[in-house]
Amino acid sequence: MTLKPVRVGICGLGTVGGGTFNVLTRNADEIARRAGRPLVIEQVAHRSINPDCDLTGIRTTKDVFEVATNPNVDVVVELIGGYEVARDLVMTAIDNGKHVVTANKALIAVHGNEIFKAAHDKGVIVAFEAAVAGGIPVIKSLREGLGANRISWVAGIINGTGNYILTHMRDEGRAFEDVLAEAQALGYAEADPTFDVEGIDAAHKLTILASIAYGVPLQFEKAYTEGISRITAEDVEQADNLGYIIKHLGISKRTGCGLELRVHPTLIPKERLLASVHGVKNAIAVMGDAVGPTLYYGAGAGDEPTASAVVADLLDVARDISTEHRYRTPYLAFSGVSDDCDELPIMPMEEITTAYYLRLLAVDRPGVLARVATILSEEGISIEALIQKEATEGELVPIILMTHRTLEKQMNEAIRRIEALADIAGSVTRIRVESLDEQD
Ligand code: HSE
Repeated sequence: MTLKPVRVGICGLGTVGGGTFNVLTRNADEIARRAGRPLVIEQVAHRSINPDCDLTGIRTTKDVFEVATNPNVDVVVELIGGYEVARDLVMTAIDNGKHVVTANKALIAVHGNEIFKAAHDKGVIVAFEAAVAGGIPVIKSLREGLGANRISWVAGIINGTGNYILTHMRDEGRAFEDVLAEAQALGYAEADPTFDVEGIDAAHKLTILASIAYGVPLQFEKAYTEGISRITAEDVEQADNLGYIIKHLGISKRTGCGLELRVHPTLIPKERLLASVHGVKNAIAVMGDAVGPTLYYGAGAGDEPTASAVVADLLDVARDISTEHRYRTPYLAFSGVSDDCDELPIMPMEEITTAYYLRLLAVDRPGVLARVATILSEEGISIEALIQKEATEGELVPIILMTHRTLEKQMNEAIRRIEALADIAGSVTRIRVESLDEQD
């Protein structure tokens, strides 16, 4: 017996919407065989023409809310992006009993708790694989494939634009601004590039990963974000000399005091697999107590890579549509994600512990290095490596330091005291260092 088709309404026909339309159309037969029933495109809402999509015979509209209220649509695919209209669209769809598939990381990270509550009350599915790392099935891996594990940390390159910039800065010795302009011209950057380079896009994705990894509510507002715009070609070169590579990482760790949730440039050892992830590619490393370290790699953006995740979600909807809601996989992996964050609070940055790379500019005079070392020692910070570069007569000399792991609060105090020294010019550059080994 063939099951009834699942009727899909696509909202948005831009890069991801167009890719979704084309993958669903091109692979319709195989997708139907996988789902055990056809997935048909019932309606498409789009503002402008996508020349890559042949909409012949498809019912179209300019009004996304028409799709959300269309009685012939079973599942609404939200691919319009942004916060407010997307939120209203998804809530309208849920209110009308539709299942929802979205690629919108900002929407899930910021409004997810409210959306999942409404969806649960209504008994509908909300799927969002494409919201994190485009085509990489990391949500499903973390939520289902690693379900046996107690997760200790997640660390990922989850913004392709930032990784593209750092890759080209390192390979070609170029400045940040120069490579950013190129990434924008190639269409990789978000409409507002600060979302990419200041870590906001990565923090949206990390918020979602952490929620699924540890069973806590989405808490984007508590994520620490620091961008890559202050990384210089000199830092990239010095990291290389020390055996490290700088990556813009989203990191979430479970510690005895709570959860770390932070996005910032990070030095990682060159031999880590994450260090070999170049260009616009994404990768996420997850450490589970049973499985050990795992790595998920692939295209983090783009039309058909992202459509691959959207369509996989549609397949899940097609398979689960007739299942009673309480037997479905929970949205955020855990049944009954509690609102009580007391057990695993998100830790303030001052309380995290990590190693550091410091770069300072000093007057080349006897005793300066000793004073810097004394401050670090007084703050209980141990030095692991030190490079003092040769200075030309009368010039400031760069000093590069690597420290052992220490409390961020102590490092803040040490940096404040070092910057106050008369022989130190300007501010100290600080980049966190992570070993990402199994014991971390
Ligand atoms: N601007 C994002 C990136 C696109 O560069 O990774 C996918 O979220």
